[in-house]
Amino acid sequence: MTTEEILRTFDIQPSNPGAYAMGWLASAESRELTSLNPATGAVIASVRQADAATYERVAATAAGAFTWWRMVPAPKRGEVVNALGNALRAHKEALGRLVSLEMGKVLSEGLGEVQEMIDMCDFAVGLSRQLYGLSMHSERPRHRMYEQWQPLGPVGVISSFNFPVAVWSWNAAIAAVCGDTVIWKPSSHTPLTALAVQHICNHVMARFEIDGVFNLVVGSGREVGQRLVDDPRVPLVSFTGSTNQGRNVARSIASRFGRSILELGGNNAIIVMPDADVDMAVRAALFAAVGTAGQRCTSLRRLIVHESVADRVVAKLVKAYGTVRIGDPQQRGILMGPLVSEEAVGDMMAALDKVRAEGGKILSGGNRLDRPGFFVEPTIVQAHKEMKIAEEETFAPVLYVYSVANIEEAIALQNSVKQGLSSAIFTSNLFSAERFLSPEGSDCGIANVNIGTSGAEIGGAFGGEKETGGGREAGSDSWKQYMRRQTCTINYSGDLQLAQGVKFEV
Ligand code: UN1
Repeated sequence: MTTEEILRTFDIQPSNPGAYAMGWLASAESRELTSLNPATGAVIASVRQADAATYERVAATAAGAFTWWRMVPAPKRGEVVNALGNALRAHKEALGRLVSLEMGKVLSEGLGEVQEMIDMCDFAVGLSRQLYGLSMHSERPRHRMYEQWQPLGPVGVISSFNFPVAVWSWNAAIAAVCGDTVIWKPSSHTPLTALAVQHICNHVMARFEIDGVFNLVVGSGREVGQRLVDDPRVPLVSFTGSTNQGRNVARSIASRFGRSILELGGNNAIIVMPDADVDMAVRAALFAAVGTAGQRCTSLRRLIVHESVADRVVAKLVKAYGTVRIGDPQQRGILMGPLVSEEAVGDMMAALDKVRAEGGKILSGGNRLDRPGFFVEPTIVQAHKEMKIAEEETFAPVLYVYSVANIEEAIALQNSVKQGLSSAIFTSNLFSAERFLSPEGSDCGIANVNIGTSGAEIGGAFGGEKETGGGREAGSDSWKQYMRRQTCTINYSGDLQLAQGVKFEV
């Protein structure tokens, strides 16, 4: 598919700035946002951003739609999400290509991201018949007590460039079956994928003759994001981004007693024990560190290797890094595309300057590629425990390698950072695996054995502890955050009885 064909599939016209926005999405006067192809640095298309007045229209639409959507039976809401999943199936190739084009991840990962959306819709459809509440035994005779889950309201979704569409679906598919409407503010790096998904949603909504359940508002964090965060009509905001931004978002939402789901920075590690299948560990580390050019929240940042196998692991890894084909992410056989922006390249190079200043040794990579676009070499650094830069999340393919003497030291090092998203151990020893999974083991939201840190399935709850923000999205019982719990007690005794044996007679 050519770029023009991809854009045409989603009614996005490259030659006509401003025309792609939905009628209510942006006014003709509002500022333009240009989307770049990170593999070339060239403009793909421009969109008009929402201003304050447009945000107001979109938020009012979402709030208005909530008043009737919440009364649609949940399994009927599931039918709409089912249709959305099928529409995504039909557009998987084109949308996967658009993700690859605009964000720079390789095609297979772009397609995988759309598959993640489809999986999420399927999960939510099943959930639409399983929004269960508990019933309890009342202590009073002829009383019934139970809890039920009610729709919450319009849900704000502020998503990041690295999973420009899947993370929206984690929230939107669940929110929709829960009876909530959605206001989406995508990353300013990836407005086109968001428009494409919104156009798919619009077609699906039109088929059901509904409007306002899924809403998009493209704009800057300052102008639109902050409005969404501060909007009292929005009881829940799901935010994906850096820990620094997340701290401000959390404060703002807490000050109005709103709820937030925070999915912030990670500093994920794999521990490799002497009894590990070294080849498997190296393959897992390669995908986790180099996949998506190191721009996943779950990307591998630290490899903690037992000293008895450290030389072997590092030698194999350096060799594997040497074979990674870097280039146009849409071309078959390419494993690593560009970083998302010039700024991201600058951040990586600045981190590597700090590595050198702190006495780290670059074992492989370390350079920007001399070609258009934002390409870098995947990089391995021999690190030491005092290295401060390794405690920060640099959103780039930089892997810090440590050598340790035993599992206690490995777990302590793994848990020593401020973030707590994903973690893994490679071992064939039951004791090591269980130790890692015990309360004195990994402190992360995700803990894997013989699987890398990235590439989680949607069926589990996704998120992490400490400065990762504590949020959980996607599978398991994450849906409960998108609803309000109501405890109901019904008295059919014909007599007013007080709990706890209290007497209050006149
Ligand atoms: C993210 O990087 O924000 O587990 C999400 C993974 C993907 C999702 C990553 N399923 O790597």
